[in-house]
Amino acid sequence: MLNSIQKFTLKQGAVLALGALASFSVVGMDRYTGVIDGEPSEELVKFIENVAPGAPLPQDGEFVHIPPAIDALEDEDIHPKLKETIRRGHDLFVNTQQLRGENVFNNMDCASCHLGDGRLPFSGPVWPAAVVLPDYRPKNDHVNNLEERIAGCFTYSMNGTPPEYGSDDMLALSAYLQWLAKGVPMYESKKMYGRGYPRLEDPELEPDALRGKEVYAQNCAVCHSEDGAGQVVDGQVVFPAVWGDDSYNWGAGISRVFTLASFIKYNMPLGQPNTISVQDAWDLAQYIDSQERPQDPRYTGDVVETREKYLDTFHKHTLYGVEVDGQLLGDHDNVGHKDFLAPDVLRPRDFSGQSSN
Ligand code: HEC
Ligand code: HEC
Repeated sequence: MLNSIQKFTLKQGAVLALGALASFSVVGMDRYTGVIDGEPSEELVKFIENVAPGAPLPQDGEFVHIPPAIDALEDEDIHPKLKETIRRGHDLFVNTQQLRGENVFNNMDCASCHLGDGRLPFSGPVWPAAVVLPDYRPKNDHVNNLEERIAGCFTYSMNGTPPEYGSDDMLALSAYLQWLAKGVPMYESKKMYGRGYPRLEDPELEPDALRGKEVYAQNCAVCHSEDGAGQVVDGQVVFPAVWGDDSYNWGAGISRVFTLASFIKYNMPLGQPNTISVQDAWDLAQYIDSQERPQDPRYTGDVVETREKYLDTFHKHTLYGVEVDGQLLGDHDNVGHKDFLAPDVLRPRDFSGQSSN
């Protein structure tokens, strides 16, 4: 096994490699916005191979938007105060651990799951939320705006509670996401290339946790540890936890096996995306989802009831409330490092004109 210094260097190396890929030294392009008419141009293909090596290429009729990196902000003709706000939002996005204990109660940064600072296709690029909302969201059965969508990832993915709506931090995060969306028409209705973590083809064999465990030991444990807890060196998270108290909770979108499989295939191992097989990605997702993590903030006090209540919209895709190795997953009151189950913002909304909200 590597010692922690070597591991730290490994992360720096991997991040440097990613940074080098994102520095666009080979291609002339640093951003792209447009609809594919027929085949993508050679230049666009080069650009995509640079930022998302091995990712599927865009198809005829798809809307492609790949925003520039934050460095491009300096050259923009916008008010310096707005630049400062966007820069603050970017800083919160990549180093969300600065809100640890206040809004974040696990080892995640937003950028832990939204790689390339939230800009990259197939890595849950965050700009679509700035142009497709407000819209109805099945997960909470009402119309959400951008702030509420951000609040969702704080609640589940960060196992926390969002900064207050309208607060400086919330405004800054929204400003960063909107800056990434610059040039995209509001309510663009064409299929967006690489949005979310696009669904993988089905595996040949049923996903299997035991096979996943072996692949994990070979390809993932070096960074995320055998016990899934990741690596923290001198109080700094070097590699985030993939399960356990420092990871996302049972209500997080990535706890759905199909989402996790896709994230893994397109993004892991870090610096070597699209190198493991589709079968391995599904097996790894099945294995990781067979481990414990903090309680779903929507918990009713009974895991079987909670699974049932959110079965159709969510838990039919997770192993929450399922028995694995004689243990009912999620059957506990452990909320991780926070001291509450659900943040106050998790509430219904009513636009009928009949409510006092
Ligand atoms: C543990 C992984 C994880 C972390 C950490 C995380 N997210 Fe997400 N995020 C997801 C998943 C999964 C989705 C849903 C993607 C999909 O639908 O395929 C998502 C979706 C989003 C979207 C909607 C994108 C769209 O296409 O409309 C936004 C905006 C977003 N996240 C912002 C954030 C912010 C801001 C943070 C930090 C406070 C954050 N996320 C942290 C996993 C994560
Ligand atoms: C070289 C180290 C490294 C390797 C190897 C690696 N990862 Fe990661 N992984 C990271 C880092 C670092 C992040 C967070 C993204 C960032 O900071 O750029 C991450 C993020 C993740 C996440 C989302 C955040 C979380 O903690 O849940 C998952 C899931 C994940 N990796 C799974 C895997 C799997 C499965 C493998 C094996 C196929 C793997 N990783 C291999 C370093 C690594």
